[in-house]
Amino acid sequence: MSSTNLISFEMLGDERGSLISLEQNKNIPFTIKRVYYLFDTNIETSRGYHAHYDLEQVAICLKGSVTFLLDDGQTKERVTLNSPDVGLHIKGLKWREMHDFSEDSVLIVLASDLYKESDYIRDYDTFLREVRNEDSPAQ
Ligand code: TYD
Repeated sequence: MSSTNLISFEMLGDERGSLISLEQNKNIPFTIKRVYYLFDTNIETSRGYHAHYDLEQVAICLKGSVTFLLDDGQTKERVTLNSPDVGLHIKGLKWREMHDFSEDSVLIVLASDLYKESDYIRDYDTFLREVRNEDSPAQ
């Protein structure tokens, strides 16, 4: 699997406090078409359990912590986000799960497209088939 793609955001804070600016096609590597955020998450809950065909996303844990499991069909990788100056860039066919939300967690996600259910792969076996198809395209 390509190594985890973490983006480090410049902190623009001063004695008044911290500030981070996110700009499309600058420190966010795509045009942002959608933003959503997860909060008040039940700490017993895990979320995600899907892959995307085309969507690109950057996830930032603004408060608290959450652990992503990223799976490219061969390797599974766990990444804990617990700092508002770090973004996890997820691109390409990757199964993702979110686990271990802290009680105070606020996770914001910037996405390269509008919500489209047709871009989701919600079944793990279908995901594995799609990864294999991508690795060995028809002759
Ligand atoms: P879901 O895909 O289950 O969230 P997660 O993958 O984080 O566990 O989304 C929950 C519901 O919200 C589902 O009905 C789809 C809807 N939804 C939107 O309408 N727009 C969005 O941008 C997202 C992420 C979800």
